[in-house]
Formats: sequence, C-alpha cells, structure tokens
Amino acid sequence: MKLITTARRMQREALQIRRKGQKIAFVPTMGALHEGHLSLVRVARKYSPVVVMSIYVNPTQFGPEEDISRYPRSLDRDKELAGQAGVTHLFVPAGLYASDASTSVLENDCSIGRCGSFRPGHFSGVASVVTILLNLVQPDVAVFGQKDAQQCDVIERVVRDLHLPVKVVRAAILRDSRGLALSSRNRYLSPGDYETALALPRILKQAAGKETVGSAEKAARQALARVPGMKLQYVEAVRGRLCAAVLVGKTRLIDNVPLKRPHD
Ligand code: PAJ
Repeated sequence: MKLITTARRMQREALQIRRKGQKIAFVPTMGALHEGHLSLVRVARKYSPVVVMSIYVNPTQFGPEEDISRYPRSLDRDKELAGQAGVTHLFVPAGLYASDASTSVLENDCSIGRCGSFRPGHFSGVASVVTILLNLVQPDVAVFGQKDAQQCDVIERVVRDLHLPVKVVRAAILRDSRGLALSSRNRYLSPGDYETALALPRILKQAAGKETVGSAEKAARQALARVPGMKLQYVEAVRGRLCAAVLVGKTRLIDNVPLKRPHD
C-alpha cells in the first residue's frame, strides 16, 4: 500500500494510474476505521483493483459546538486495517485548505432539514471537501455509506449539478450483531448507553413496516421520544427510507431503514 501525504503527490499519482488505463475506486473517510469503512473498500474493489482511501478529519464540516480535537484518531491502526482490506493507495493529507481559502460548495436542497437543521454548515463542509478530494483523486467510482443517507443525497446532487465525472455508489449499512449501525461514535457509549442506543434501529425497523409513510414516521417519532435516556432530534421519511437522529447522553447517533411502503 502506497502512503500519499500531499495533494500534489495524489494528483500526480492519479494521473499516472489513469495514463496506464486503470480505473480508480475511491473511499473517502475521516479515519478511526471500523468494519463499516472496510465494507466500503470491499464494494470499491468490485469496480477496480486500484482502491484509494483518504483519511482526513475535515475541519469545515465541524460546527463551532463540535470539538474536532475530540474526533478519534488511530492512524497506525488505520494503516494496518486499510492495507489488509485491499486499499492500494492511502491518501492522508496534513491539510487541504489554504489559510485564506475562500471557496466552498453550497448545496441548497438535499442539505436542508434532517441533520442539516441540527448541524448548520455541516453539509457545505462535506460538499466542499468531497469536491476537493474528487478533484485530487480523479476516481471513476466513489463509494459512500448509506448509513449517512443525507450525505449521500447531497453528494449525488453536487456530482450531478457540477458535472463531476464520477459514479457515486451507495454501500449498505453495516450493523453489529445486535443491530446498531457501526459508527466511530459508538466508542463513546457506556455499556448502559449502548443498550439504550439499540432502541434506535429496533424502533425504526418496526415503524418502517407500517402501511403508510405518515404512520411510519408517527410510530417511530412516538416510540423514540419515549425511550428513557434518549433524546429525539428528528424522524423523517425521505426517498423511501425512514431516517432518524437521536442523542444518547452526549453521543449523537443517526440511522435509517427502508420503508416497506415508500409511497402513501
Ligand atoms: P466517516 O464518518 O469516516 O465515514 C466514511 C464513510 O464510511 C462514509 O461514506 C460513511 O457513510 C461510511 N460508513 C460509516 N459507518 C458505516 C456503516 N456502519 N456502514 C456502512 N458505511 C458506513 O462520512 C465521512 O467520514 C465524511 O463526511 C467524509 C465523506 C469522509 C467527508 O469528510
């Protein structure tokens, strides 16, 4: 596995790969890798033997209330896991923004509502960094997790609107044996919080079986609001999926499941 640490080197490497006629499959991450991230690598490998993974804790997607210095970092372990999973090029830039960077990508439809209401500016940060990364890596295919459904919606729209020459692939949500979607934030859950958190996928799955979109939203909203130790942020059915965000203690968790009847 090749380690690349500067934007310029990444761009040069991508050019060389493409000159050889090879396709590039890309998996952007913020590191602290877990099986969910690695499942994206397995999807990427179906598209090309050349798999670039980026690890970059992107400052522009953290709000003023969100502490970027608290974001988990485990680069040595990440390198090992990425190599074992089949990543051929690991891109770990020290920085991607000039100190006086003044350009951003603002998506104005999919970014509104859901997580966008609770994390102002977040999706502009995501859209900006993903656009930068796609420019540097020049992939044919970029793989994102359905776990972050709204993020997928935003990126698909940016790619379409800006005519970026990349195919966006959504990979299925990887869950642990008890149903909780894997997330780097799960490590912040105490054993008690973990038990509480399990209510999120359980309730969403139950509610998603309802006969109408409206009744699914209502059932999930009522049940999640009643879970002791859980604070509901939103429940919303979007594009055939029932999406929700909650707080368990200080840990914010999101999840989504397919609706049995996506149309009323
Ligand atoms: P990060 O949270 O590190 O996630 C990287 C990718 O892994 C995302 O596409 C996310 O949806 C996917 N992922 C996380 N948990 C998953 C799970 N349990 N099952 C399937 N996929 C999962 O998302 C980001 O980083 C950043 O916003 C990024 C796109 C890298 C831009 O900075």
